[in-house]
Amino acid sequence: MAKNDNLHKAKRAKADEFYTQLSDIENECQHYWEHFKGKTILCNCDDPRVSNFFRYFSLNFEHLGLKKLIATCYKNQDIDLFSQESSEKAVYIIYEGDKNGNRQVDDNELEVKELQGDGDFRSKECIELLKEADIVVTNPPFSLFREYVA
Ligand SMILES: C[S@@+](CC[C@H](N)C(=O)[O-])C[C@H]1O[C@@H](n2cnc3c(N)ncnc32)[C@H](O)[C@@H]1O
Repeated sequence: MAKNDNLHKAKRAKADEFYTQLSDIENECQHYWEHFKGKTILCNCDDPRVSNFFRYFSLNFEHLGLKKLIATCYKNQDIDLFSQESSEKAVYIIYEGDKNGNRQVDDNELEVKELQGDGDFRSKECIELLKEADIVVTNPPFSLFREYVA
């Protein structure tokens, strides 16, 4: 029984750490282009340093006419299990588009900042960022899906 519990736990953890492919994001998001114009997008289960959601929206920021892009990530809970992330701190980035007119996302336009807490999407500081957002786009942890939607 205990063995079975561990297997279920591992299966859930693995599903929670499934990373979305850029091609899947492109295929899905193309249907909503018209809705993104002038909007603030939040990706709140996304380490901006590795997330393809953040990559997609930052690379297409001008093309989609976005107002602001925010990504927050959860502090890594289980670095050695399935996670691709190595962050021991929860971080966020607010990207407001190309500043120097070269139509590229430059490093100096991306300032990674540390969150005070663990980056849980339910935490007060993440809810404050949620309030700034018009649209939330991410692939959340499956085990918390109901809470996430709520
Ligand atoms: C299914 S993965 C998807 C990651 C990323 N959104 C993507 O699509 O590539 C879910 C992510 O949610 C993060 N996560 C788990 N619990 C969280 C929580 N309470 N608050 C915020 N993020 C959480 C996990 O660390 C994991 O990176």
